[in-house]
Amino acid sequence: MLQTRTRRRAWIAGIVAAVVAFAGVALSAQYAHAQTTLRGAADALGIDIGVAVDVNKLQNDQTYRDIVATEFNSVTAENVMKMETLQPSKGQYNFGQADTLVAFAQQNGQSVYGHTLVWHSQSPDWVENESGQTLRQSMQDHITTVMDHFEGDVFAWDVVNEVVSDNNGQLRDSFWLQGLGESYITDAFEFARQADPNADLYMNDYSIDGINAKSDRYYELAQGLVNQGLLDGMGFQAHLILGQVPGNMEQNLQRFADLGLKVRITELDIRMDLPSSQQMFEQQAQDFERVVNICTNLADCSGVTVWGVRDSDSWVPDVFDGQGDPLLFNDDGSKKPAYDAVLNALGGDPDETTPPDDTTPPDETTPPADGDCTARIEVVNDWGSGWQANVSVTAGQAAVDGWTLTWDWPSGQSISSSWNADISTSGSTVTAGDVGWNAGVGAGQTREVFGFIGSGTSAEPSVTCQAG
Ligand code: XIL
Repeated sequence: MLQTRTRRRAWIAGIVAAVVAFAGVALSAQYAHAQTTLRGAADALGIDIGVAVDVNKLQNDQTYRDIVATEFNSVTAENVMKMETLQPSKGQYNFGQADTLVAFAQQNGQSVYGHTLVWHSQSPDWVENESGQTLRQSMQDHITTVMDHFEGDVFAWDVVNEVVSDNNGQLRDSFWLQGLGESYITDAFEFARQADPNADLYMNDYSIDGINAKSDRYYELAQGLVNQGLLDGMGFQAHLILGQVPGNMEQNLQRFADLGLKVRITELDIRMDLPSSQQMFEQQAQDFERVVNICTNLADCSGVTVWGVRDSDSWVPDVFDGQGDPLLFNDDGSKKPAYDAVLNALGGDPDETTPPDDTTPPDETTPPADGDCTARIEVVNDWGSGWQANVSVTAGQAAVDGWTLTWDWPSGQSISSSWNADISTSGSTVTAGDVGWNAGVGAGQTREVFGFIGSGTSAEPSVTCQAG
């Protein structure tokens, strides 16, 4: 008897906990935009908080994917928009992985920063062996084809990357410089401006975060390009070392902003000698906070991008012997002190759990039953002639692996394009299924799974969700 009652009480407590947990998830999803995530805080400030994304992990690692979607409002391809990936053989373009990233970003309402068109590294062998007019033509073809392909989807490009050496501000002795002479930099910008006049055009490099010979050289190059109307922004990679944020970083960024440029911290990470310690993590948090504050204090700072998600995702250990742990998330996806520091610098608050007073809590309170799911269509943009909706699936107490959604249009609406779902229509009934990589929704979790552009009057019809 006693045993039965105890068990039943535990069972009831379990249900109560589950319902409370579900309400918590719903609330945090609803109010995430307030201040509790990096992207919520950055959205409120009107700046980008970006992350370098590995497309393989995006497709295969749900923890990774969820952090990218939840915490960041901008993405940069860590590798898949580099020339060796996009044009492995002369004239043969391979946009598959980059397109996957762009589709993911669109589905999650994120901007895409383009990295990178002209670089001495991660370029295919064929182009490294060219010179003169042939090389110049290849440079133009690459810039034009790539920027055309992503026009409207990629808002800014690192047109040239790392063109100044570490030797006293001299231009880097790359195959581009050897094959084309100094004018290749201006040429690259001219080709880029022609290809997509609406994209912001950037130069980008490391070890130019403070004032030094290398950043002085960039300042000179920037003046020249600004005078020709060819440059819009300066990217500071900020691959930094623990405790060594340059003392004059704000003045340095300010002088580029004073040229009329946007400035952006493009590849932030702060590495340390391994093994790391709690004390080093605290120092790292201060360093991150300082860098992000430098950006938020500058009206012309377009944002900060961190170069990877978890410490285990970072390029640092592969390149800097004995160093690592340079990012915001631990290997298991939990948040490091540096995360809270960045959130703080963005004006967010990790402890904010209750909704602001003047808003009503969401009314969806019935969690789906075990093994079941619910789904919701949310109109996120409406420009009269069309509208965009994002669609999310919520799992019950069991994780969902595969979903099929159906709904009826109330008054003749239709879908003009969609991403990340298999859609079929019969009369006014729409059926949408997962496309594999977005099939999974964790127990009790809500996940934005796909999106579409609708025509007709925007609508949020109720949706039936079938799991499995
Ligand atoms: C790095 C990537 O993180 C690695 O995965 C890859 O193996 C090498 O390139 N400066 C840049 C980035 O502009 O493209 C580099 O990214 C890091 C340094």
